[in-house]
Amino acid sequence: MAIAVEPLSDALGAEIAGVDLRQDLDGETFSRIADAWREHLVLVFRGQRLSTEEQIAFASRFGELQEVRTAPGVSHANPFVMMVSNVEEEDWKGVLPDGEMQFHSDQCYYEVPCKLTMLHALEVPPADGDTLFVNCYSAYESLTSEIKSDIAGLEALNVYDYDANATIREMEISPDAPRFTHPVVTTHPETGRKVLYVNRLMTDHIVGLGREEGRALLDTLIETAERPDFIYTHVWRVGDVVMWDNRCTLHGRTGFDPSHRRMLRRVAVKGERPSR
Ligand code: OGA
Ligand code: MN
Repeated sequence: MAIAVEPLSDALGAEIAGVDLRQDLDGETFSRIADAWREHLVLVFRGQRLSTEEQIAFASRFGELQEVRTAPGVSHANPFVMMVSNVEEEDWKGVLPDGEMQFHSDQCYYEVPCKLTMLHALEVPPADGDTLFVNCYSAYESLTSEIKSDIAGLEALNVYDYDANATIREMEISPDAPRFTHPVVTTHPETGRKVLYVNRLMTDHIVGLGREEGRALLDTLIETAERPDFIYTHVWRVGDVVMWDNRCTLHGRTGFDPSHRRMLRRVAVKGERPSR
């Protein structure tokens, strides 16, 4: 199948045209998609209509699926499917329903985060609720050599309080919230490139630095990551399939009018423990 790869911004992201993801893709087409994913970090496929099973089948080509573990006590449509939605149905309830979402990397508060997250838009509001992506290779590369050497051996604690602070960090984090310490700079296991691996929503502090020094450094790193020239903004259309490399990107979203329905079907692929 002849597919076309069209970059979506100078920062990251590419649209893949000429493919129907319901089909069982031949090896060559799949490897072109996988190569484009490594190169552009975020892939967008417009106009898709995948059933849950078809979405699971496509995502599974990238590796073993990660069971949902982020939303305790919520019933999901399928153990591997999370509905990112402000809609509630009889047998499932949407999660991360409304509001702005600060930049983050999925599951960085676990020892082994997912490597790929894929959202399929089933319903979208008429405006807003955009998802923004950061290129964390570029963020790392833009740091001064002084900062690069300061952070080379550092680690940071990542924590996520799903009940109290799911989309914006503002209140106290519960002592029960899942947390894990990872390097501030990681190396992507497939590309070998360095990644700035901290974020506003989930990184709590840098280990071993004084409170003020640590906060100032973390603020500098987070502000660097969120520089507009490292960002691609995805404006959703129904039928979009968007998949990102969660090891070298951050994502966040803008708020939207909660009286409109928004429903994104999400599956994720298991990753590996981030390493320096
Ligand atoms: C996610 C997520 C953002 C959005 O599914 O992990 O952060 O735009 N979603 O809803
Ligand atoms: Mn997320």
